[in-house]
Amino acid sequence: MGEFVDELQAIVGGDHVLTDPDMRRSHEVDWTRRYEGTSVAVVRPATTDEVAAVLRCCARAGVAVVAQGGNTGLVGGGVPRGAVPSIVLSMLRFSTLGPVDAEAMQVTVGAGVTMAGWRDHARAAGLDAPVDFAARDSATVGGAIATNAGGSRVLRFGTMRSQVVGVEAVLATGGVVGSLAGLPKETAGVHWPSLLAGSEGTLAVVTRARLRLVPRFDHTVTAFVAVGSVDDAVALLGILRRDVPSLDAAEVVLPAALELVVEHLGRAAPVTTPADGCCVMIDCADSADPTEQLTSALHRAGERGLVVDTAFATDATQRAGLLEFRDRITEAIATVSTAVGSPPLKLDVAVPVSALAELTATAHAAAADDGSQLIGFGHLAEGNLHLNFLDAGDPATIASAVLGRVAELGGTISAEHGIGVAKTPWLHLIRAAEDRAAQQALRAALDPAGILNPGVLAPELRAT
Ligand code: LAC
Ligand code: ZN
Repeated sequence: MGEFVDELQAIVGGDHVLTDPDMRRSHEVDWTRRYEGTSVAVVRPATTDEVAAVLRCCARAGVAVVAQGGNTGLVGGGVPRGAVPSIVLSMLRFSTLGPVDAEAMQVTVGAGVTMAGWRDHARAAGLDAPVDFAARDSATVGGAIATNAGGSRVLRFGTMRSQVVGVEAVLATGGVVGSLAGLPKETAGVHWPSLLAGSEGTLAVVTRARLRLVPRFDHTVTAFVAVGSVDDAVALLGILRRDVPSLDAAEVVLPAALELVVEHLGRAAPVTTPADGCCVMIDCADSADPTEQLTSALHRAGERGLVVDTAFATDATQRAGLLEFRDRITEAIATVSTAVGSPPLKLDVAVPVSALAELTATAHAAAADDGSQLIGFGHLAEGNLHLNFLDAGDPATIASAVLGRVAELGGTISAEHGIGVAKTPWLHLIRAAEDRAAQQALRAALDPAGILNPGVLAPELRAT
């Protein structure tokens, strides 16, 4: 490996090949501390040519490449796994923010730009980024493309896939593909953004992206609404989607999740939630004040008996305070898990919204059978729940029960976090054998040496 490391140093410079275990550590263990492995080195290229040269070098040496952005992934797809020698390819030096094209409403950014960096850059030009989620300060654009990240604004603007109007990416063979022209209309064969969004670092390494921007809305209002049941939350969603065009987010928080984050923040709960109910956090944003739009919709929901309790925030400080009750749940879960010394089992599932109540009941039953605590929250409009089981005795049994039911309900075992290595044993529930074989064939064609993220998205290649 000495010669291999020398070659890497010649490509990116000695300072950017980290071989010291202490320096590598933060890149080798994932955010949840559930997944970790050892790498030969953490390599930090700064140019597309450097990425190409590193990939060629790894293909020659038979060393796997785990591309990594902010290392906020939750399914073990961004850290080494140890079955084969690998490098971590840290993309954080791809931090360039191109000029905002206000007319095209697009911008080209490096793959290592954070989601908050993209957003702040857009906002400085009077526009906004269409994707937002809690890990915004660390998660990168490249990682968000690789996982087809979602977040809270999907109901309005779609997932990351819909924002990528161009990519530049490097294949395992060192070839550079894609285009950053950002043409809204072009039909010329394979559309690389479509192919790479959600591919979890298995088909190519994204170096730069041309991204869609959306209007910046100056008027915002946030509400936390307690409802009597998950079905009532879905009925409320129907009213909001029909009557509130400024709807920017509709997030769901189950009572135990609210209790946990309330304790974590050391603040009083914004609303009182019935034990069998849940909370809906509603965010509206518009170029004119959306308060009236939202309050009258909530009034109609109240007349139908759907609203138990409401908290409103219009000024920025109060709003930030309310948003914390949703945004900081994952952090609260991590704090408790660290204290009990066992990483949580995290499922990220989605079902048709009409089946959300049934999914919730299934998850509660699985937690009760196992004797673990269920912390559930997520994105209401996509029927996407993050089901966290704290101190789970038998994670595989819980996962099989919940994911099996999810598949029966017509849902998915991964709504936005990806398959990674965490969910590969259950991929067959949602993708037939022929489908998986076709995906493997595509992967083998683009990466004949099989160096890009082996074990991810492929149960057959599962690394231990
Ligand atoms: C969220 C992350 C966990 O929704 O997806 O906060
Ligand atoms: Zn989420």
